[in-house]
Amino acid sequence: MIPTFDAALLRDRALALLRRNLHQGYDPYFRRHYAYVCPARRRYHWQWFWDSCFHAIAFSRLDLALAKQELLNLVSVQESDGFIGHVTHWGRRPILSIWGYFQSRLSLRPHHTALIQPPVLAYATWRVFQADEDKAFLREMLPRLNSYYRWLAEHRDPDGDGLISIITPYESGLDHSPAYDAILNVRSQRPSRVITELRLRLLDARHLLLSPNYNLEHILAWDRFVLEDVLVNCSYAEGLWALSELNRAAAQPAQAAAWEDMAQGVEAGILDKCYDPATGLYFNLEGRAERQHPVLTVTALFPLILRSLPRARANGIVRHLTDPNEFWLAYPVPSVARSEPSFDPSRERFLWRGPTWLNTNWFLVRGLRLHGYGQLADTIAHRSAEMVLREGFREYYNPLTGQGMGVRGFGWSTLVVDML
Ligand code: GLC
Repeated sequence: MIPTFDAALLRDRALALLRRNLHQGYDPYFRRHYAYVCPARRRYHWQWFWDSCFHAIAFSRLDLALAKQELLNLVSVQESDGFIGHVTHWGRRPILSIWGYFQSRLSLRPHHTALIQPPVLAYATWRVFQADEDKAFLREMLPRLNSYYRWLAEHRDPDGDGLISIITPYESGLDHSPAYDAILNVRSQRPSRVITELRLRLLDARHLLLSPNYNLEHILAWDRFVLEDVLVNCSYAEGLWALSELNRAAAQPAQAAAWEDMAQGVEAGILDKCYDPATGLYFNLEGRAERQHPVLTVTALFPLILRSLPRARANGIVRHLTDPNEFWLAYPVPSVARSEPSFDPSRERFLWRGPTWLNTNWFLVRGLRLHGYGQLADTIAHRSAEMVLREGFREYYNPLTGQGMGVRGFGWSTLVVDML
C-alpha cells in the first residue's frame, strides 16, 4: 500500500533547508560576489558541482530565482577552456584539509579542484529553463554549457569512442563504492574505511605530484585509474540531450543537431560496451582494455535513464531492481545490492556501500517513468518521501529500516520534491 504523506509540508521543509544552507558573500580571490547552497553546513561548506545541479532542480519547484542563481554561480568560475572543477572554494575561509590541495592544481589557495563530477549541469539548466522559458537566463548559460561539454568530449575521451572517462572514484560522485575496489586493489569484502580512503587520497596525490600537476595527457596515458563509468556516462548522455534541446530553444539548430548526434552515440556506446549479457546489467569499463567488474551497485541500473534502452533490456534491469535479494529492500534503492558480500547498510562515513541515497533514487524514478514503469517509480518516490518526513533530509538512509544516516540538513535530499 502507498503511504499517505503531506507533499506541501515536504516542500516547505525543502525550501527552508535549501535557504538555510545558502552561503553568500564577497570572494576576494575571484573578486566577485557569490551565492550558492552548500551540501551541508557542517561537513560540506564549499560549492560541489553535482550537488548544486540537484539543488537547482529542487529549487525549480520551489523558488525559480534561487534556481537560476545556483547555476549561474556554478558556471561563473568556468575556465577559458570550458572546465569547471568539482568543488569551488568560495569566500575567505582557508582550505584546511590537505585533501582539498591533493585534488587541485598546485597553488597556495586553489580556487577549485582539477576534478569533474557527473555532468548533470545541462539537464539541470534545461529543467530550470523549462519552468519559465527565461531567454536571458538561457543566453547566459548556453555558451558556458556548450564549452563545458566540448571540454569533456575533447579531454576525457582518450579512446575516441564517445564515452568519457573519470580518473578517480571521487569523480563518479560515489566515492567509496565497491564497484572500484578491484581496480584499487582493495581485496577484502569488508575493507577498512581508513585504508580504502587512503588509497583514494594516494591516487589524488599521485596525480598532483607525479603526473604532475594534473596533466591529463599524462594521467590518461598512465592508465592506472581511467574508467568509463556507467553512471557518469548515462548522466553525460542525458546532459547532451538537454543541451540539444537548449540549443534548439536558442534557435541554434545546427549546434542542436550536433549534440543530439553525440547523445545518440553515447547511448549506443553504453548499451553496446557496458552491457553484460550474463546478468542483463551494465558495468564500468576499466582502462584501455575496457575490462568490466561485475559488482551489483546502483550504477549497474543507470541505463534506465537512456532514451534508446530497448524494452527487453529495461525489463532485464527491472528484474534486478525488484529482486528482494538484490535491490528491492524495504527502503529502495540501496547503493549496493544485498547479495553482494560488500553490502554494508548501516556503516556511516564509508560512503556508497549499501545505504539508499535520494539523488540516485531521483534518477531511477525518472528512468522508470520514461520506460513505462510508473507504479514502481511511484513506490520508490513514496518510500523516499516517507523517509524524509520521518527522519529529515539526511545524507543517506538505511535501506532495511529507513533510518537517517550521515549528515543532517543535506541539500540534495530535497530532490524528493521533484519525484512526487
Ligand atoms: C560526498 C559524495 C559526493 C558529494 C559530496 C558533497 O563526497 O560522495 O557525491 O558530491 O559528498 O555532498
